[in-house]
Amino acid sequence: MKSFRHRLLLTTLAWIGILLAGLFIVIGQLFSFYVDAEDITTVWVSLASIFIVTIIISAVICNRIIRIHAQPIDNITQVALQLAKGNYRARAYETESLGTAQLSTTINILARNLQEITAVREMEQERLKTLIENMGSALIMIDRQGRISLVNKFFMNEFDLTKDDIQEKFYKEIDIPHVLERFIENIFVTESPARDQLEFTSGLNRKHLDVYGAPVLGEHERWLGIVIVSQDISELKRLEQIRKDFVANVSHELRTPVTSIKGFSETLLDGAYQDEATLLSFLEIIHTESNRLQLLVKDLLDLSKVEQTGFQVDVHPTDMNEVIGRAVEMIKPRVEEKSLHLDVQQEPTTVLGDANRLIQVMMNLLINAITYSAADTTIKIRLYHANGQAVIEVEDEGIGIEASEIGRLFERFYRVARDRSRNSGGTGLGLSIVKHLIEAHHGKVEVESQIGVGTTFTVYLPLWS
Ligand SMILES: Nc1ncnc2c1ncn2[C@@H]1O[C@H](COP(=O)(O)OP(=O)(O)O)[C@@H](O)[C@H]1O
Ligand SMILES: [Mg+2]
Repeated sequence: MKSFRHRLLLTTLAWIGILLAGLFIVIGQLFSFYVDAEDITTVWVSLASIFIVTIIISAVICNRIIRIHAQPIDNITQVALQLAKGNYRARAYETESLGTAQLSTTINILARNLQEITAVREMEQERLKTLIENMGSALIMIDRQGRISLVNKFFMNEFDLTKDDIQEKFYKEIDIPHVLERFIENIFVTESPARDQLEFTSGLNRKHLDVYGAPVLGEHERWLGIVIVSQDISELKRLEQIRKDFVANVSHELRTPVTSIKGFSETLLDGAYQDEATLLSFLEIIHTESNRLQLLVKDLLDLSKVEQTGFQVDVHPTDMNEVIGRAVEMIKPRVEEKSLHLDVQQEPTTVLGDANRLIQVMMNLLINAITYSAADTTIKIRLYHANGQAVIEVEDEGIGIEASEIGRLFERFYRVARDRSRNSGGTGLGLSIVKHLIEAHHGKVEVESQIGVGTTFTVYLPLWS
């Protein structure tokens, strides 16, 4: 900018110099007609001195004038440079100076507009980023060359990736399930949107993803790459499987007694009723099977009731000793039938609970203990207080449960070695009902068992105090 001012000054001075020089030469020539030859030198010297003084004065005056007029331009140029660099907060002085006033106003309007546009763009970018990061689904964008251009944190968490794993990488280089890679490949090939459910193994688990992929089109339908959005639906799939298993189990459990009732009654109707011994034994079987059917229906109804969301037990201060006493009373015939021994040790205890539901819990645990014990063994019932809770233990010396089975024991219809439990008369629903009921009491139930040694079920319930 300085050199521009210098050049302007020099040019102006050069013109002034040329004009003055021309003028003074003409004046000098005119003088030469009237002045003697000796005096002409003095005239030329005087003219030269005047010329030099005038040039110096002109230089000073021009410099001032140029400075005054060039300053706003200087300032505007600086602002323009700042704008070019991206500093949209720069503003020019809005002077009254002739000519530049409009320029500085215009450049300030330009700067303001640029600042507003950038602010809007930054806000939109921020909004989009927040949306992508918090959309609840995994997202990945891949450019036309197959290089990853954007990935959100859900995607990185889903596939255990770090920033370094994906930076500047092609999608084929990163560690994603093979099925997903094939899905991406397919979108690249077909160039059309697709949706699919993918299944793969991640560590020890089976995972299910609901994926949607589509090409990203820019202006004029230009192909920019593809975007993939995926949702983990493993939990949904698991629930669906549980529901399917449940229906299959219910059908299976119902079919056995129904088939047998139907078969035996048909045989009787075909004429077997005439033989009294057969009639009696078949009726016995039909009776047993219908009892089993009734039990199953009752357990199913119970289970569906306790599994309902918002299921609540009607809690009152309840004498736990009485609950145990009533349950023991009811199972006594079975205990005697199998020549088992009962050992009951209890502290006086009042819990917060629903007496009928707690009797149901105790019955289930005790009937299991009886069912899975050999004759002449002892079943111990203990009731005591620990850590501000009531603790009830039902311990048997029965066949025990494999450690690997314990985790699944409380599932609906789960029975350890189906054959072993098949003729136990149970439904496989007892322990799920127990668990739901105890949890509804804000308590918990635990199992400890050793094959061939015995099993202990421990129930914790809140004390009433
Ligand atoms: N005290 C126990 N000793 C050994 N196995 C048991 C005991 N209690 C429960 N089990 C096992 O847990 C399974 C589930 O129990 P439960 O839900 O009450 O169903 P079931 O109707 O078969 O008794 C039983 O089939 C049995 O294999
Ligand atoms: Mg049972």
